[in-house]
Amino acid sequence: MRVPFLQFNALHQPLKSDFTKAFEEFIDSNYYVLGSKVKAFEAEYAKFHGITYCAGVASGLDALYLSLRVLNIHKNDEVIVPSNTYIATVLAVSYVQAKPVFVEPELVTYNIDPQKIEEKITPYTKAILPVHLYGQAANMTEIMKIAQKYNLWVIEDNAQAHGALHNQKMTGTFGHINATSFYPSKNLGALGDAGAITTASEELYEQIKMFRNYGSKVRYYNDVIGYNSRLDELQAALLLIKLSYLNQWNQERNQIANLYLQLLADVPEVVLPQTLQGNIHVYHLFVIRCKKRNELMDYLKKHEIDTLIHYPVPPHLQKAYQHLNYKRGDFPIAEQLADEMVSLPLYPGLKTEQVEFVCDTIKRFYR
Ligand SMILES: Cc1ncc(COP(=O)(O)O)c(C=O)c1O
Repeated sequence: MRVPFLQFNALHQPLKSDFTKAFEEFIDSNYYVLGSKVKAFEAEYAKFHGITYCAGVASGLDALYLSLRVLNIHKNDEVIVPSNTYIATVLAVSYVQAKPVFVEPELVTYNIDPQKIEEKITPYTKAILPVHLYGQAANMTEIMKIAQKYNLWVIEDNAQAHGALHNQKMTGTFGHINATSFYPSKNLGALGDAGAITTASEELYEQIKMFRNYGSKVRYYNDVIGYNSRLDELQAALLLIKLSYLNQWNQERNQIANLYLQLLADVPEVVLPQTLQGNIHVYHLFVIRCKKRNELMDYLKKHEIDTLIHYPVPPHLQKAYQHLNYKRGDFPIAEQLADEMVSLPLYPGLKTEQVEFVCDTIKRFYR
């Protein structure tokens, strides 16, 4: 039985006629950049989160970068980031010429460990940038307390956790400004690149709208050295259709995750994902830690099961960051995770038989 890592068929096939209609309307609209669909999607996305403002941008990386820009984070500033995140989080900090300061994750949730943040705060620290990795909220209660104590900005990286909750509050609503990605594989994915920023601050929202559009509030008048990062009108129209299914798809992700958790519970070589009390996980990825990880991946591949590693090299050991002079051993938890983790297939439309087959094959490997 073939089990691909990710398939969009179950999501997109039933929506094809809606997508086609949206495309036809888009062609006829005569308005292709920052039009009514972007406005409508921004309003719906903000409403979904129970937050006042949303501004669409071109990608998740841009959302992070522009968030840092409008907070005026710049050269010689420090931004606290998890040591085990996707590179985009760190790249955004580099783009504003600030220094990424890595903090290790908790070994249980894989999210930034709030207990290790304070020791990294210096007079140069300007912000904490937590990431809700794999679909689970970081401990925002503790992070917000620390931010308040030291008067720091908080920027959430919500790219992997659309619809996740922490103490009944949605991720993407805790920070002063919050970035997200609608890269196609995300829980809410566009059919191309797209991203957004959410905030409760009218001032930051107005700034983002200016920065994403050449630094201009009034056409051909430029107040700041802005950027071109606008959410595509067509992607906004498609996202608007998909947003109404997000809760349903997240529930399906939870059902699949629960089946994995049940079927793999008795495999001692496998460490299963755990959910922090008060969190609702949305399982963007189902990541296990395991013995003989590479051999297991090869074995699964031989049985037509695709897996991936998120992520094989932590940011501090990436070639792009060699100038920071980190070495192996500097962030042992992030390194351990990179060595032990593997993501199993999980997406709406994945069948029970396929999950059973993956679990049976894992059990056969360890037997
Ligand atoms: C945690 C995280 N942050 C940021 C990004 C960047 O998003 P994008 O690919 O839309 O630029 C991604 C995904 O790609 C991500 O997973």
